[in-house]
Parts: sequence; structure tokens; C-alpha cells
Amino acid sequence: MNEGISTGEMWRSAETILLRGGRLVDPAAEIDGRQDLFIRRGRLEGMAAEISRDADLTFDLSGLVIAPGFGDAHVHLREPGNEDAETIASGSLAAARGGFTRIACMPNTQPSLDTRGQIEYVLRQAQAAGHARVYPVGAATRGREGAQLTEMHELQAAGAVAVSDDGNPIASSRMMRRVLEYARTWGMLLITHAEDPELVGEGVMHEGYWSTVLGLQGIPAAAEGIAVARDVRLAELTGARLHVAHVSTREAVETIRAAKARGVAVTAETAPHYIALTDEALKDYESVYRVNPPLRSAEDREALIAGLRDGTLDILATDHAPHTVVAKDQELAAAPPGMIGMETAVGVTLEVLRHREGLSLTEIVALWATRPAQVLGWGGGRLKLGEDADLTIFDEEASWQVEPERFASRARNCPFRGWTLRGRVRMTVCGGRLTHSEGVTACPSERFQTEFS
Ligand code: DOR
Repeated sequence: MNEGISTGEMWRSAETILLRGGRLVDPAAEIDGRQDLFIRRGRLEGMAAEISRDADLTFDLSGLVIAPGFGDAHVHLREPGNEDAETIASGSLAAARGGFTRIACMPNTQPSLDTRGQIEYVLRQAQAAGHARVYPVGAATRGREGAQLTEMHELQAAGAVAVSDDGNPIASSRMMRRVLEYARTWGMLLITHAEDPELVGEGVMHEGYWSTVLGLQGIPAAAEGIAVARDVRLAELTGARLHVAHVSTREAVETIRAAKARGVAVTAETAPHYIALTDEALKDYESVYRVNPPLRSAEDREALIAGLRDGTLDILATDHAPHTVVAKDQELAAAPPGMIGMETAVGVTLEVLRHREGLSLTEIVALWATRPAQVLGWGGGRLKLGEDADLTIFDEEASWQVEPERFASRARNCPFRGWTLRGRVRMTVCGGRLTHSEGVTACPSERFQTEFS
């Protein structure tokens, strides 16, 4: 009789929900095993190996993995200024579909997120859309121009989770020092886009064998290596907290590893595309594979995976960078860098890191949930009784074909088009609300069914 009534509608009306038979993986609580979850009015009320209480709605999650809600520490939503590529609503819906309950969005919008009003605007739009918790990252310098500091404490008071000029590096070492000192005053995290702009020059891809074969301008690994070394050294000098965005090279991994060993307060991320692809992807000159920093060599890719395994790289983050078809459908040098990633992140991670590289589910959940919460301090990242349920539920075995046309994102610049991925998100629960479900069936209690119909 519930035909035509969606799982979402039932979830909204149910007072109590039982999630049965799933495998709960929560690294913070050192749990990996069957746990049933009992949710009342959106709050996690019970968690035990077997719960046999009646609930308005029961889901059989056997065969599925339940994790604390995943967080993506690095996305670009194009609002304000480039809403034909993405909006806060479309981007946060893409987040929910991808299994994310929290996302941090970068300030390289137009205008950039460098005032209290801009931060408040993002939060209002995100709240209105209601698909995910959106944490704006404020600009570190006005207009992201690298010349004048922003009023970081105002951005922080308005709700900025960190500061960054991401999209651009902070070219001047002197300015970077000031930014770090000021960020430290307010206890803010500085996220660095570490590339030496002069070495990047007009480069469109990694400098190496393939750039030579293709006759394209290269970006040497040293462009990142030098910038990371500088920024880590300045973090050490100032005592500020530094997070290195989108690490793509072996050099950077080695520098961060050494800095951590010295006790520098540095954390770092890499993105799924750097662990799934190499510069060879550009061999047909397709602009969908252009990204900054660029896809690197097979050796760099190996070093990134080793960095994820040993904790040098703390987290994964997508660097979801939507561009319109018109913008991206140009020759490499004219097309803007960037690729979308939120709706393929879990699939690519499970396919590459779990099934091919053998990482454990605990390691994967730590990369996408536990440690992002620690790096950004945005709460969650673990399951706690009494709190609103924030969950990412996935099938680590389900195979699916990547069809960007079906994405919630407005953009289509996905480098995994046509790939078959093993691992698919089935449900996303954000703040007790069901923000995404696919292929799971709710079983209503008799009483609820009668009331509901
Ligand atoms: O490839 C990139 N695209 N790298 C960045 O740092 C910025 C991003 C964008 O905003 O498109």
C-alpha cells in the first residue's frame, strides 16, 4: 500500500526508525561490527549488536556499511557569481548523493568570500537548501589577491571554518607569514594552495614523460614541493595551524612527513583523482583531465597512497571544481582546470583504495569522516548517543557505471565517465534527516502504516 510513497516521505513522518543488520565502522569508537541503530525524532537513541524494539520504520541494512557522516573538506560551489556551473543548492545536493553530510566550500567565488556578508550569504543559502551542512572557508586576503589581510575574526564570527586563498597560491612569502600570524591570533586553520606560481607558469599538465610526448607545457613537481616546503617552514616559524590542500607529489608527501616528525602543526589532504589517475590520462588532449595541481606520475601516485596509509596525508577531499560544458569543452590551454568529484568520491575510493590497494574499511572511514572532523573541528565524525544522526551508509560491493548526466551537480566535468566502480552510497542521513536514499526499502510498522495512509 505504500507504493508511490517515497522512503523520504516515510522517514520524515516516522518518529522512530530502526536500522538493522548493518556493519558499523566507527574508527573513533574502535567499532567494526554489526550494530543496530535506533533513531527517535532524528536522534540516535540506541546502538547495540541486536535491537529488537518496534519502530515506525525498519530498514534491513544487512550487507551494508554504516559510517559516521562523511565530510568533504574541499569543494567549490560557484555561488555567488558562476551559478550556471554550480549553486549552493545543487552542490550540496551533489554532496548528499555522494554520501556527504558536511562540506567545506572554498572562497574563490565572484566576489570572493572575504566579508562577513558573503559568509552569511553562503550559510543562508545552504540552510534554505537543506541538503548538507555547508562550512564556508573565508578568504585569507581581500579578493584573494595576496595583498591585504581579510578581517579573519569577522569571518570566523560569521561562521567561516578556516581561511584560504585556494584557487590561487599566496605568492609572497612575507604575505604568507602575515596570514599565518593573523590566523594564529584567531586560532584559525589556514588551508594552503601550495604551488609556486612562477614555476606553474603557463603549464597545463605535469612536467615529465607525457608532457614531452604530447608537446604540452609542463608544471614540475617542484612547483608544489617548493611551496609546501616554504609553507611548512612558515607554519613552524609562526606556530599557526596549516593544512595543505590537494597534495599531488611525492616531494610534498616527504616534506610533510618530515615536518610532522618534527612536531609542526600541519595536516594534509589528497583527492581521489590523484590516487586513481596519472598524467597518462592526458594522452588524448582531453581537457576534462586538466586540473591544478595536475595529475602526476605513477611514482607520485604510489607515494600518495603510501602517505594515506601511514597518516602523512590525514584526509581525502574531492576538490570538486565544477565548470560549465562550454568552459570545459575547449582545447587544454583554454579550458579552466578542475574536475567534479563529490558523486564519485566514495565509489572511486572503494574501488581504488579498498578493492585494489587493500585498505581496511576503518582506514577509509577515518579518511572521510573521523579525521576531517579533527582537521576542521566541525563536530561529528563519530557516532554518539543523544546526538542527531549523521550517517553515510554504503554498499562496498555494488558495481555501477559512472554517468555524469545523472548527477545532481550542474557540471559534467567528471574524469571517471564510463568507469565501473565497485562501491556505492545507499543512504545519507544528515542531522537526523534522510538526505539521500537509493536501493533500500523501508518496512513500516502496522500502526505507522495505518496512520500514514
Ligand atoms: O583545478 C582546480 N580548479 N584547482 C584549483 O585550485 C581551483 C579549482 C577551481 O576553482 O576550478
